[in-house]
Amino acid sequence: MLLIRTENLTRLYRLGDETVTALLDVTLSIDRGDFVAVMGPSGSGKSTFMNVIGCLDRPTSGRYWLDGEEVSALDADALAAIRNLKIGFVFQQFNLLDRLDALSNVELPLIYANVERAKRRELATAALARVGLGERTLHRPTQLSGGQQQRVAIARALVNEPKVLLADEPTGALDSRTSLELMALLQALNREGTTVIIVTHEPDIATYAARLIRFLDGRVVGDTRQQQADAAQVLRQIVRLPEQEAAE
Ligand SMILES: Nc1ncnc2c1ncn2[C@@H]1O[C@H](COP(=O)(O)OP(=O)(O)OP(=O)(O)O)[C@@H](O)[C@H]1O
Ligand SMILES: [Mg+2]
Repeated sequence: MLLIRTENLTRLYRLGDETVTALLDVTLSIDRGDFVAVMGPSGSGKSTFMNVIGCLDRPTSGRYWLDGEEVSALDADALAAIRNLKIGFVFQQFNLLDRLDALSNVELPLIYANVERAKRRELATAALARVGLGERTLHRPTQLSGGQQQRVAIARALVNEPKVLLADEPTGALDSRTSLELMALLQALNREGTTVIIVTHEPDIATYAARLIRFLDGRVVGDTRQQQADAAQVLRQIVRLPEQEAAE
């Protein structure tokens, strides 16, 4: 079933006399339950695309439907409401609040959604457990590893059950092992039904997606489905190797 539909999505930036074309005529559909990787060189429009899809930004022209509703026609307030309700966003630098513990960080979207306190605690606790951080709810971001901080960010993005999880280079600040663990988590969430769209520079990371969309100069220049590598399985192989060596 269709979740995202764009038609001729274009985003121009004006800088003095110059016009930068960040997105040009992007027409595509993404189904519910898909796992999409977006690739392309620096400056090719990946983040601009994610920001428009995530209702953080609006197209200069073209149309965008999310979950059956035309988003490109909405004003800023309506857009913010849709964002809060339907979008979970994860960034490269986690964007957690350092003075709040993990639980309070995850609760934030629920405060904006006017969920009452006891319910907020319950949902945030469950979201942290879902990303494997049930034991770390009272830790502040500075008391967590990078991978744990990114998992808090994912719990925050998922806590109000968004239609789609958008992650702009979520492994960009993580080492390769922690990146793999993060991809295994995203694949597990995807199998449970979450639609996932990630931006990545790393071809390895892109192999864990089911669909690969390539951008160049603001346009889509490639869109292919692929056999999805299994991050949890790769992780198990890495963990098993030293043990096997010891046994031999
Ligand atoms: N606020 C802005 N004002 C003017 N130009 C911008 C702005 N944001 C992005 N651009 C331009 O739009 C183009 C696309 O930028 P975008 O951030 O989407 O690229 P990207 O593919 O995410 O790159 P990267 O891989 O480096 O993150 C670039 O040429 C960029 O310079
Ligand atoms: Mg970017």
